[in-house]
Amino acid sequence: MSLRSRIVLPYAVLLTLSIAMVGIPAVRTVTARIEADRIDDMSRLLHLLARSEETRSFFRTHNWSRDFRLAVHAAPDRILPAQGNLEAEPSAALDALLRADPALATAGAARRVALAGRTYVMLYEPCHDGTRRADGVFLLLDHVEIESAQASARTQIGLLACAALAGAGLLGILVASGIARPLESLSRRTARIAEGDLSQAIPEEGPTEVARLAGAFNRMREGLREVQSRLVAHAKADLFERVAANVAHEIRNPLSTLRMNVQLLRARVAAPAPSGGTLATADIERLDRLLLELDRLELIVGGLSTLATPPRVDPRPVPLAPLVTETLGLWEPQMRHVGIELSTDLPEGLPPVRLDPPRFKQVLINLLLNAQQAMPAGGRLHVQARAWADGLVLEVSDSGPGVAPADRGRLFEPFFTTKPKGSGLGLPLCRQVVEAHGGRIEYVEGAGATFRIVLPGVSSTEG
Ligand SMILES: Nc1ncnc2c1ncn2[C@@H]1O[C@H](COP(=O)(O)OP(=O)(O)OP(=O)(O)O)[C@@H](O)[C@H]1O
Ligand SMILES: [Mg+2]
Repeated sequence: MSLRSRIVLPYAVLLTLSIAMVGIPAVRTVTARIEADRIDDMSRLLHLLARSEETRSFFRTHNWSRDFRLAVHAAPDRILPAQGNLEAEPSAALDALLRADPALATAGAARRVALAGRTYVMLYEPCHDGTRRADGVFLLLDHVEIESAQASARTQIGLLACAALAGAGLLGILVASGIARPLESLSRRTARIAEGDLSQAIPEEGPTEVARLAGAFNRMREGLREVQSRLVAHAKADLFERVAANVAHEIRNPLSTLRMNVQLLRARVAAPAPSGGTLATADIERLDRLLLELDRLELIVGGLSTLATPPRVDPRPVPLAPLVTETLGLWEPQMRHVGIELSTDLPEGLPPVRLDPPRFKQVLINLLLNAQQAMPAGGRLHVQARAWADGLVLEVSDSGPGVAPADRGRLFEPFFTTKPKGSGLGLPLCRQVVEAHGGRIEYVEGAGATFRIVLPGVSSTEG
């Protein structure tokens, strides 16, 4: 059963029961009241009539009492129908009734009598008019009159109850929808998460509890996404390491055979010809180019095997600022030469971090080299560090063109390069080294390019 029905059904049953519990006694009270009021009216009128000089003409002069029928009782036990009021047939029937039971002509409570096939409510009061033209007066009211007044009261109460039921029912449906709609949407979206679709966040709207639940699901979704991407990255890295190790192993031997043979060939071609003079300058140049390409191939194979074997780092607590200043000091003349202005912001009192200095210098050099290559016509390079959590953040920013949005996700992929002579191994190696220190490296969007390294503090790495 849907949530909406679970809320609406008990509410509807409860509502119907309460309306019935109030409505049925109300109908009973109102119908009894109607009958009692009519009898009250009758007895007041009867009282008037019993004192009237001209009882029989009363109904001709008093229009308001036209609902009532009047019969005048004249001794001995004879009914004189008041003109036009009690028709001949019931009048005769009352006459017969009176003869059979003279006790009818005694004052008392209202009675029900059947006359000529109809039921009447009847009241009697003796006359005291002094003329003795009548001994008493019967006042009769057709019971149908009471019934129709009761029926119309019942209809009105019924209509009122239906309107209340419809109004309250509508309100119930609105309330149920208000509660159920956000929950249904939440359940649809969480079902998508359960099916593995983590792409869409759940809107945190609706009642507070539902919004809080959506928030919790969103945090869970973020966590799952992170775990998922880390798993994928690890699986990729594992696969890459295995393939790289195999390829490096398989290529290294033929490559050294090739180099040896090319070197032998070059030595032979470069040797003086028996006839004197250098014979094959063009061939020597070709072989030199071949050797250069072999150098490059060996560099790639070297990079591959480095990537395949996670770097061994030997970290120890080190203050970062002197390490950075020392590395930049080596690099500065070269930077200045190509028109790059170098600036630093290395506040004192930065917390020490655990670093393997030579390894970490490699990372810095890779970043500086990339920045320099990104600004061939000069520019600005800024290196800054600040404390973060219990560790610190180091940022290397340049005023070059930055990384195209489409390339940002691939920066740390091995062999991703946009440079004609690049190997695409610099940043992946940086990441390996930084991660081996327990930190992380990321590209930060903004003007130019910024690479941020986050390093844990001494205590957290020791813990
Ligand atoms: N500071 C930077 N500004 C703009 N693009 C950059 C910057 N640093 C890196 N990149 C981009 O990232 C790519 C990958 O960099 P990475 O250092 O891994 O390889 P590479 O520099 O191309 O080659 P290698 O470092 O192996 O010589 C670069 O080709 C370049 O497109
Ligand atoms: Mg590089």
